[in-house]
Amino acid sequence: MGYTNLKEMLFDAKKNGYAVGAFNIVDYTTMSAVIKAAENKKSPVIIQTSAKTVSLYGYQPIVAWVKALAIHSTVPVALHLDHCKDLDMIKNCIEAGWSSVMIDASSLPLEENIELTKKVVAMAKPKNVTVEGELGIIAGVEDDIFVKDSRSYLADPDVCVEYVNATGVDVLAPAIGTAHGLYRKQPNIDFDLLNEITQRVDIPLAIHGGTGLSEETLKKCIAKGGSKINVSTELKHLFRNSIEEYYKANPEDYEPVKIIKYMEQNVIRRIEDFIDVFGSTNRAL
Ligand code: 13P
Repeated sequence: MGYTNLKEMLFDAKKNGYAVGAFNIVDYTTMSAVIKAAENKKSPVIIQTSAKTVSLYGYQPIVAWVKALAIHSTVPVALHLDHCKDLDMIKNCIEAGWSSVMIDASSLPLEENIELTKKVVAMAKPKNVTVEGELGIIAGVEDDIFVKDSRSYLADPDVCVEYVNATGVDVLAPAIGTAHGLYRKQPNIDFDLLNEITQRVDIPLAIHGGTGLSEETLKKCIAKGGSKINVSTELKHLFRNSIEEYYKANPEDYEPVKIIKYMEQNVIRRIEDFIDVFGSTNRAL
């Protein structure tokens, strides 16, 4: 168990028809809450950091937290860099000790996306670090970058096969109609497309935009081949709402430890629910 990359955990998820949750943490407490929830549920888990979070804390503190929490953990834990376009940041994460990284060059022409992804795979593979790449464009807000619905487009299965073969990525995030952030209307997810990509590429697929998807939709995404499900926005709201709720209920209280513990419990409970829906409960055995 303990600290690992995405390869084995997602291979098992793909083989056995469940998904591993990739949860974007914002600080030490949210990281430890995610790992505690995974331990309670005996589930593998992916700690995900946005480029913004990496810039806030720096490389060494995040790696120190995850190693302190993951090395002796009873479940497999990976540390994955979410959407990153900056090769220097990716290189620094690989050198600092992240076990997995995502290169998001999906807004570039295919040839350039392939070239950049190949560069990242060449840096990552010798260090046993796994790589996720993206195809198509996923709508919504991620790390302050807003992609309008009208500018998003879905992944093309032929291109997925070409990209995976040309780059050697370990995980593919194809745009299938989910979006980052809160859904303003029902998402129009192309499950047939997801199914076709699953049939045609033999690496695990990541589904982005987990916040706001119904249990039924999440389960369908997994049944059609999603092996990694990303959740970020909901945890940010939970973080903020927990602090607001606590102060409303205890206006005289100024002890941060109590507020932090309240927030931690809320995060643990919510992550446990996600883990049950994703079907990864008891998969760490
Ligand atoms: P949400 O913010 O919609 O949960 O999406 C998270 C995500 O896909 C991160 O890459």
